[in-house]
This record gives sequence, C-alpha cells and structure tokens, in this order.
Amino acid sequence: MLNSYERLLTGNKEWAKDKLKDNPEFFKNLILGQSPEYMWIGCSDSRVPANEITNTQSGEIFVHRNIANMVVHTDMNLLSVLYFAVETLKVKHVIVCGHYGCGGVLAAMENKDHGFVNNWLRNIKEVYNKHAKELDAISDKLKRADRLVELNVIEQVHNLAKTRIVQEHWKKRELEIHGWVYGVEDGLIKDLAVSYCDIKNVEPVFRYDL
Ligand code: CO
Repeated sequence: MLNSYERLLTGNKEWAKDKLKDNPEFFKNLILGQSPEYMWIGCSDSRVPANEITNTQSGEIFVHRNIANMVVHTDMNLLSVLYFAVETLKVKHVIVCGHYGCGGVLAAMENKDHGFVNNWLRNIKEVYNKHAKELDAISDKLKRADRLVELNVIEQVHNLAKTRIVQEHWKKRELEIHGWVYGVEDGLIKDLAVSYCDIKNVEPVFRYDL
C-alpha cells in the first residue's frame, strides 16, 4: 500500500518506451516547444482526462482543471492559464468540458456543509439559483443534476465570453469558445451547441470598448 505510488513510476518508464517504439522522434519533437490549438477547462475528476477521452497526444491540449470546471472571474489560476493560452500560444478554441455525475455539482445541489469547499461550490449554487425554475420542475434528482451539469457548462462558457482577454482576441482574430459534457457512463462527449466566436451573445453590460 505504502509504495503503490511506485506503480506510476514503473508505468512512466513503460509509457516512454512505448512512445519511442511508435515514433523514435516523439520526445525530440516535443522538446522543440508546444503549439496546441486547444485550451481545455475541465473537472479535476480522475475519470475525465482531457487527452485520453479526445484521443489526442502530448502537445495538443493546454489544460486547466478544477472542481466542476468553473470559470470564476477572480480565479488568478484560471485567468493566467487562459491569458497565456490565448495571448501567447494563440489557441483557436477554448473548451469548457463538464461531465455527468459531477461530484461538485451534486454537492452544490445539497445543503450539506463541505467546509472550505463551500466557497467554491457557492459559484455552482448561483447557477442553480439562476435556473431554479427549470431545475425545480425536474423531480428526478439525477436528471436534475444532469441538467445542472449542462447549465453550469453553459454559464461557464458565458463567463469566458465576459473576460477581457476573450473579447480582446475576438476583435483581433478567430477564437471560438465551446461547451461540452462528457458522459462517464458511455465515454461520449455531447456538444451543447454554445459555440461563440464574437460578442453577440454577451449581454451589453459585460461588453468592453476595446
Ligand atoms: Co466533476
């Protein structure tokens, strides 16, 4: 039990060997630098690994993960990752990917005390509150949670659109933001069709004169 972590180091050696077997230049190419086309904002949940579920390789996705894939406008971590991805790496797509059965979303629907995490879950509670009419009408708790997962992703896409960094780059070049939900039960991603590439979908008060 104590040395179960060693499995990861052994696994890493095997992985590196396999990569070289497939492509002897694999690491030589990566060392030249990264130019990913995508930034990923996903949940920290161990069942939703960005590269694995999209069948992509090292170097293809710039990743930020937190509990329940939130875009919180005071989160210096998220904003720094976003700034670097958009400004320096010039990613073409920023994807918010939630997942059904999200523990963070389920916790936010309840009144249980989660200590410090309450501060984070509060952001999801705000989403619930905004859509309370629709959500309260769904009697099945799991179905209600699934819908909140979707609504939460949509709200986070809107939160992305409200950032100065996204609005600035919309003025200058092509940049698209998207909302997806991953199904842990079947491994499939659902596109929520909230892809935006301009300011049209941003409420006037959130628009900046850039
Ligand atoms: Co989650």
